[in-house]
Formats: sequence, C-alpha cells, structure tokens
Amino acid sequence: MAVKSVTCVAPVNIAVIKYWGKTDEKLIIPLNDSLSGTLHTDHMCAKTTVAISSKFSKDRMWLNGTEESLDNPRLLACISEVKDRARSAGKLTEEELQWNVHICSENNFPTAAGLASSAAGYACLVYALAMLYKIDGDVSVIARRGSGSACRSIYGGFVQWIAGTNPNGTDSIAQQIVPASHWPEMRVLILVVSDSRKKTSSTSGMQRSCENSELLKHRVAKCVPERMSEITKAILKKDFETFAKITMQDSNQFHAVCLDTYPPCVYMNDVSHGIANLIHTINKFAGRTVAAYTYDAGPNACLYLLEKDVPGVLAAVNHVFHTDTKKEEYYRGLSVDLVDVPEQL
Ligand code: ADP
Ligand code: DP6
Ligand code: CO
Repeated sequence: MAVKSVTCVAPVNIAVIKYWGKTDEKLIIPLNDSLSGTLHTDHMCAKTTVAISSKFSKDRMWLNGTEESLDNPRLLACISEVKDRARSAGKLTEEELQWNVHICSENNFPTAAGLASSAAGYACLVYALAMLYKIDGDVSVIARRGSGSACRSIYGGFVQWIAGTNPNGTDSIAQQIVPASHWPEMRVLILVVSDSRKKTSSTSGMQRSCENSELLKHRVAKCVPERMSEITKAILKKDFETFAKITMQDSNQFHAVCLDTYPPCVYMNDVSHGIANLIHTINKFAGRTVAAYTYDAGPNACLYLLEKDVPGVLAAVNHVFHTDTKKEEYYRGLSVDLVDVPEQL
C-alpha cells in the first residue's frame, strides 16, 4: 500500500508581549502585534506524523493517543490552505491531492495548561503538512489558522507576529527578529505549578475580553505599540534590564485584562503570585534585574533569565518551594527546563 508520510517536531514559544483578542475569529487575525521566544528544547515539543494514502477511507486525527473529531474548522482550514498551495505548486498529482490524510500528534508536556500546546501543536501540524505536500514559502500564515500563537513557533529565536492590515489576513504573519544565537546566554525556566487543563480556553477567554474589557482597548491602543518597539530594541541591544521590565509589565497587564473581563478569567493562582513576588524580592536584593516572569493563560511561570543567574534563581525556587531540580538538568538554547512546583504553598 502506497503511503507517503512525514514526521516533524515543533517547540513551544512563550510570549513576552502577549496576543489577546482577535479582529476576525475565523481567520484568526489578532488585535495587536505580539512577540515571543521560541524554546529550544526537547522537553516541550509536539511531535506530529502526517500520512496520505489511496487506501485511507477518510481523514482522521489522533491527539495524545485519543481519536479526535475532524469536525474542527481550524484543523480543516490548515489542511485546505496547505492543499490549495500544493495545487498551485504542482509537485503532487491531482490524485495524490485527493487522498485522505491521517494525523497523529503527541505533546511531551501538559496540553491546554497554559504552556502553549496549541502553538507547538499547530506549528508542527502545518510544518509537517507543508513538507508532505511539498509547498514553499512562509507557512506561519497557515499555522495561524490553527491557533494564533502557532505562527510564532514556525521560527526560532525571538519572533514577532505582525497583526497586519489586510482584512483577508495575508499579511498577518510571523517574522524572526533575531536567531537564538544572537543572545546565547538567554535561558527560560518553566515552573510547572499545575498540569491540569485550564477551565477557560485561550480562545474563549480572549473572546470574552473583547466583548467587555475596557482595559483591553486601552492596552491595544496605548500600550502594546510602544512596548513592541522598546522590547525589540532591548533584544537587539541585549539589554536584559529593559527586556525584563517590559516582559513583567506586559504579563501583569494581560492578567489585569483577564480580571477586567466579566465574568473574570482567573488564570494565575496563589503559587503563581508567590513566584512573581519571589522574583521581585530576588531582583531587589541583587540590586539589579536577575530574572523576569511571564504567565500565559494558566498558572505556570515562565522565567526569562541569563545563564549566569540560573543556579542562584533555581536555588531560591528550590528553597522556597521545597523542590530539588539540579543544574545538570538544564538545557542550552533559549530554554532551560521544567521545575515542578507544588500547587499549594
Ligand atoms: P495552551 O495554553 O496549551 O495553548 P489552548 O487553550 O490555547 O491551550 O489550546 C489547547 C488546544 O490546542 C487543545 O485542546 C487542542 O485542541 C489543541 N492542541 C494542543 N496540542 C495539539 C497538537 N499537538 N496538535 C493539534 N492540536 C493541539
Ligand atoms: C496568553 O494562540 O492559544 O498564550 O488563537 O484562539 O488558538 P487561539 O489562542 P492562543 O492564545 C495564546 C494566548 C497567550 C498569549 C500568547 O501566546 O501570545
Ligand atoms: Co494556546
């Protein structure tokens, strides 16, 4: 039986300027530009195999070992966008383009827990499909149709997602600002407070914020544009102090928007706030900015810091939260490692 298949691995990305809110739900066009670091690690990845065959009687998808319904407009949009481009590229026959597709994906970290599984998942799926159907050009614009944040995981290093101005979304794409090698000392520590699924998905949380948060309007109009340009300059200059301050301010404002939403979306818990306090305490006593925290739509903390400060910050985290992660467990690149922190202090 003729089967063509491709397997890809894609990493998560953790935003320092958050995407929250859409101008177009179907096309996934964001209200604001955003910026993230793509984590260079084997520990927080999606791994996806896509296969096509004349013998497959229907399209099917498995996620983390369970078959999912294909009645998912985002998944269907990704498949049809790739096939449209493949048709114009002309590298597969029309018959091959008609074959059904099987997708099998697994995340090696918690799904839907605020650790960007939708980003790694859809980036991986679209990249694998792009290889299978032999399409060229930017595919971040297609990954965006699966989950907005996924467009940024297509590229490594620090990446921006330009909201774009075109109502059909063709200029709403991700672009690399610098590769990871530009700032080789940069690390990210992920403190896993909880691996449970969030109660309110990012998609519905941001929908609700768009419906009724006044603070979201202020954030989009008055705060994000300046932050985007300031943090980009800080990254280019490797100015950690400025980078860290903007990162923490943007995370705090994003969670303030979530609380300003009615009914509120509560993603951080007491331990998350405890970690933020600890970082401010460390920075104060060091007399300089040692680390920055940021939280996605979940309670887990992502700490950006420089390699020289990893042992000290980790020792403080281990001391305060009674964990025992060791230095040998870190990894190079933009990412360090996962630290399990108890959910209760
Ligand atoms: P997260 O904070 O983990 O990104 P979201 O609420 O944004 O959480 O998205 C979670 C959803 O993303 C999952 O319910 C699933 O639909 C989708 N998803 C997660 N991982 C994958 C994957 N590997 N392949 C395809 N879709 C995925
Ligand atoms: C808080 O990309 O998961 O992580 O586009 O609806 O799938 P959808 O949402 P998603 O939202 C991510 C929100 C965030 C911030 C960010 O990654 O920029
Ligand atoms: Co997500």
